Amino acid sequence: MKDTLISPAVEFYDVVTRTHSEGGDALRSVLAEVDPSAGAILDVGAGTGRTVQIIAEAVPGARIVAVEPDLVMRTVLTHRVVADDDLRSRVTILADDAQGMAIPETLSAVVLYGVLGMLDRDERARLWDRLLPRLAPGAPVVVELLPIEKPQTLPPMPYAKERIGEHLYEATLRGEPGEDDLMVLNTTWRITGEEGEVRTVHGTSQWHTFGLDDLARETGLTAERLTLQAGLLRAGG
Ligand SMILES: C[S@@+](CC[C@H](N)C(=O)[O-])C[C@H]1O[C@@H](n2cnc3c(N)ncnc32)[C@H](O)[C@@H]1O
Repeated sequence: MKDTLISPAVEFYDVVTRTHSEGGDALRSVLAEVDPSAGAILDVGAGTGRTVQIIAEAVPGARIVAVEPDLVMRTVLTHRVVADDDLRSRVTILADDAQGMAIPETLSAVVLYGVLGMLDRDERARLWDRLLPRLAPGAPVVVELLPIEKPQTLPPMPYAKERIGEHLYEATLRGEPGEDDLMVLNTTWRITGEEGEVRTVHGTSQWHTFGLDDLARETGLTAERLTLQAGLLRAGG
């Protein structure tokens, strides 16, 4: 399994997803039409289980396979799944990455939220080769991407803001081009209380840049944009 980059900012993952929720709404509405008897729903890079929770609510009765290679993220995922009777009975957790995961025979939907940019072109090509033959007719592949199609400089911008108890958590994001198609993204988290700064945490991650149209070309599927970041891939006509 390829090493995933564990950022010290992993602790704040769920703070970010609370701030940015429109991709979740798009996922919910696409999945509302899925027939769970057509096969399992595969969530690749399931993270802390935000998407697993949405899948479970949107498609009652669906069998869900959640793939998450990172120990910290998977620990939160397992915590979430085991604490809920419904999730515990339906969600299978795989400690693999997209390159090595076992794929269920037939899939009624695939969720690739925030993960495709972790794979380079060749890794994505191998993923499509393994995944596409398993899709049930008309099964949606729902993706969430960073809205950055080419490496570029991103000036510092506010990224998340949340109050937890007596502390305020504020994140700033900035980016710079890396090698080839890579973006290097740096976040700075400042946690402050009444007395001033409590702590500051820096995180770094990398993302291979491409757009929804590139994914349509790679897969041969038809692409539809759902939000600035979310998109739907599906076999056309
Ligand atoms: C931005 S998070 C998205 C989590 C979740 N899908 C969501 O939208 O809330 C990306 C996740 O992909 C995982 N990841 C990184 N590289 C991966 C790979 N090669 N295969 C599968 N998952 C990977 C990370 O560990 C992380 O949990």
